[in-house]
Amino acid sequence: MEYSIRQAGPRDLSGIVEVFVDVAKDPDVSIATAGEMLTKTPVIKEYLEASAEPEFPWHALIAIVKGRIVGVCDILRTPMQRTSHVAELGVGIMSGYRGQGLGRALMEAAFRWMRTHGITKARLFVLEGNEIAQKLYKSMGFAYTGVYRREVKTNNGFTDLLIMERIL
Ligand SMILES: CC(C)(COP(=O)(O)OP(=O)(O)OC[C@H]1O[C@@H](n2cnc3c(N)ncnc32)[C@H](O)[C@@H]1OP(=O)(O)O)[C@@H](O)C(=O)NCCC(=O)NCCS
Repeated sequence: MEYSIRQAGPRDLSGIVEVFVDVAKDPDVSIATAGEMLTKTPVIKEYLEASAEPEFPWHALIAIVKGRIVGVCDILRTPMQRTSHVAELGVGIMSGYRGQGLGRALMEAAFRWMRTHGITKARLFVLEGNEIAQKLYKSMGFAYTGVYRREVKTNNGFTDLLIMERIL
């Protein structure tokens, strides 16, 4: 499958929201609901505008197939000076485009972006049952470094939210 990856800007707003909402439809992989993601549209718009400045803490990379945004990896640098080498990642591929190498390619592009911008440690959060994402993260050098116990409500009770980190 042919794809391209680039940094996102304001014109990508609707495509990015579409990916976020699609991913948020599945409670086994997303903490936010699809409705919550939709309400974030104005904030994402502001972020996309502000992220033209390299100093802004949030940036997004997007994967594009045949002109359609089908994957997003967002990078959130932690705010304090002494932890400004650390960033939290989120990654999501639209259903129908998964399992074809886009998630790995987006993360590799995110690593390159982070190194270029002085980020030397990546962190992410993943639901305990999301084995596909954990397999990808482990294969990319992430290790489990912590757990938020009973952090997320499910239909039957609660599930843990795992912390994974990698030094770049
Ligand atoms: C997790 C996700 C980002 C992976 O992206 P992807 O494009 O589907 O994955 P890739 O095709 O790049 O595959 C990367 C690795 O993921 C794992 N993987 C992907 N699909 C898999 C599947 N169906 N079963 C098991 N492992 C799988 C494999 O380890 C694979 O590496 P390999 O091809 O060398 O075996 C994507 O599936 C997704 O968006 N899922 C829903 C949202 C989500 O879970 N986001 C992460 C929240 S923390």
